Amino acid sequence: MKIGIIVYSHTGNTFSVAQRLEEKLTAEGHSVKIEKVTVTNDNEMDASRIQLSNIPDASAYDALVFGAPVRGMSLSAAMTAYLSQLTNLKEKSIFCYLTQFFPFPSMGGNRAMGQIKKICESKSLKVSNTGIVNWSNFRREKMIGDIVEKASRSF
Ligand SMILES: Cc1cc2nc3c(=O)[nH]c(=O)nc-3n(C[C@H](O)[C@H](O)[C@H](O)COP(=O)(O)O)c2cc1C
Repeated sequence: MKIGIIVYSHTGNTFSVAQRLEEKLTAEGHSVKIEKVTVTNDNEMDASRIQLSNIPDASAYDALVFGAPVRGMSLSAAMTAYLSQLTNLKEKSIFCYLTQFFPFPSMGGNRAMGQIKKICESKSLKVSNTGIVNWSNFRREKMIGDIVEKASRSF
């Protein structure tokens, strides 16, 4: 399966998880590519004002992983802006993951996950599974390992 891992990552946490996913999914025989969403105004919190400077072509893949950080207890504005402009992606299988600093998903991660799922569903995209990495949690490595396992079972 041709899988695109499309991530927005400012300080590298979300990207490092993407690399772990790439390694696992490639070892399982998939053709995997990581693509970065980039923006010119990273500090902007309002998704409608985000200026996307790299817009990965999600239509090039059979299945997709979307990865993003939590910002201000919400899905990062950059990923919100990217997902909002997607068109014609019906029936692709999607795995979503988020990274956040705070130690528990209840501290913004669950809310942000609700937002990413809602955008995907509004585009008729089927979210098969999800995961959150709480970067300051002492179980972080296990959380990353669990996400990698869950994603590999999703495709
Ligand atoms: C402006 C800003 C707002 C943030 N808001 C939150 C937040 O509400 N909850 C949280 O747990 N982490 C928050 N963080 C931390 C990031 O979610 C966390 O460090 C994430 O792993 C960064 O991912 P990245 O390295 O891929 O950019 C925030 C970071 C920034 C820069």
